[in-house]
Amino acid sequence: MTTLAEELLWEPTDKQALFLAANQDEVLYGGAAGGGKSECLLIDALGIDQSALSWNRYTGIIFREHFSDLADLIERSNEIYPHFGGIYSETKHVWRFPSGARILFGYMSKKKTSNAITAKSTTGLVGMN
Ligand SMILES: Nc1ncnc2c1ncn2[C@@H]1O[C@H](COP(=O)(O)OP(=O)(O)OP(=O)(O)O)[C@@H](O)[C@H]1O
Ligand SMILES: [Mg+2]
Repeated sequence: MTTLAEELLWEPTDKQALFLAANQDEVLYGGAAGGGKSECLLIDALGIDQSALSWNRYTGIIFREHFSDLADLIERSNEIYPHFGGIYSETKHVWRFPSGARILFGYMSKKKTSNAITAKSTTGLVGMN
């Protein structure tokens, strides 16, 4: 099996590697603008170490406060996720992978919405950025 670095020519920075290796339920990643947080979230949602994409019921969600805040993440995901067989639905804002696994983009400006979404459909990562 090819590694992420071979597939994407992508190597995590030290901080990104720490984040990706963490197995806690909640991990905070702060730092300077351009420090690689968004990129790391996109990679983490793939659940590579857990082979998450091979599980047809895997659903990862990446959140921001407003939908307009997701534009850069969606653009970058278009360069990364097709390497994993992902096909993007522009209307649903969902990546679907060959196994049936999904990664969704969502937004929530109200706590209530966040609870509803996580309770209903998440089996994998919930990321806020
Ligand atoms: N490991 C990496 N290898 C190559 N390029 C990277 C890597 N990590 C981040 N980048 C690139 O560096 C730039 C900044 O990364 P990113 O957007 O993830 O930073 P950020 O911390 O989210 O910034 P901001 O605080 O402005 O949102 C982007 O162009 C991204 O594609
Ligand atoms: Mg960012």
